[in-house]
Amino acid sequence: MADDDSRSGLRYTDPALLGWLDDLHAGLDPALRQAFEAPGQQGMPAIQVGRSEGRLLSLLTRLIGATKAVEVGTLAGFSAIHIARGLAPGGHLWSIEYDPHHAEVARANIAAAGLSDRVTVLVGAGQDVLPTLAGPVDLVFIDADKEGYDAYGRWAAANLRPGGLLLADNANYFGKLLDPERAGAAAVRRLHEEARDAFDTVCVPTPDGLLLGIRR
Ligand code: SAH
Ligand code: DHB
Ligand code: MG
Repeated sequence: MADDDSRSGLRYTDPALLGWLDDLHAGLDPALRQAFEAPGQQGMPAIQVGRSEGRLLSLLTRLIGATKAVEVGTLAGFSAIHIARGLAPGGHLWSIEYDPHHAEVARANIAAAGLSDRVTVLVGAGQDVLPTLAGPVDLVFIDADKEGYDAYGRWAAANLRPGGLLLADNANYFGKLLDPERAGAAAVRRLHEEARDAFDTVCVPTPDGLLLGIRR
């Protein structure tokens, strides 16, 4: 059996507790609120990152002094606004979105946040658009189709600078990471395994896991 973490029984899911922390550390200003609420209001799936994860993206972006960032999976721009706000002066985020309606909503939300000059939303499939972008980049955030996660991770390994940061949401694949039947689970497992070869890695236990890797 794998090494046990005797504290792993500590799992806090009390909504009041989590809401108190989100309100204190990850409050939404009007621009973030607009992007956070847009999916539910404009016919899109409400699958944006949580408030604290969004805030974490922003602080990590700032921490590494990122100037060039790439995101796969824009939705309504909630995570993109967080990443863009963390960029160093003159920095830029390229965010890839397959669905033109999502991209249009995201562009409006990014404009409302005053970030249109810092974010480019590229419409297309990640596997088609990533090859048109050139490294070296400082940060890659993966949050699109799970079947593509392994390919996105390979692009990140090839295009992140040494010390650059790989982040991937849903690293637990909705809790089904070890399911042998699902193609998405296999792709996310490959991302974990291949990332280990090129990055110093950890899977941060957020609600659905956040893979974090520093490019060696
Ligand atoms: N990162 C966003 C949430 C992204 S949800 C946030 O936290 O705010 C996942 C998004 O990926 C959806 O908008 C979906 O349309 C998009 N998507 C799905 N398949 C894709 C693909 N192959 N390439 C690019 N985007 C894709
Ligand atoms: C789904 C996708 C996500 O990226 C997420 O964080 C939650 C759910 C989904 O496709 O259902
Ligand atoms: Mg996600």
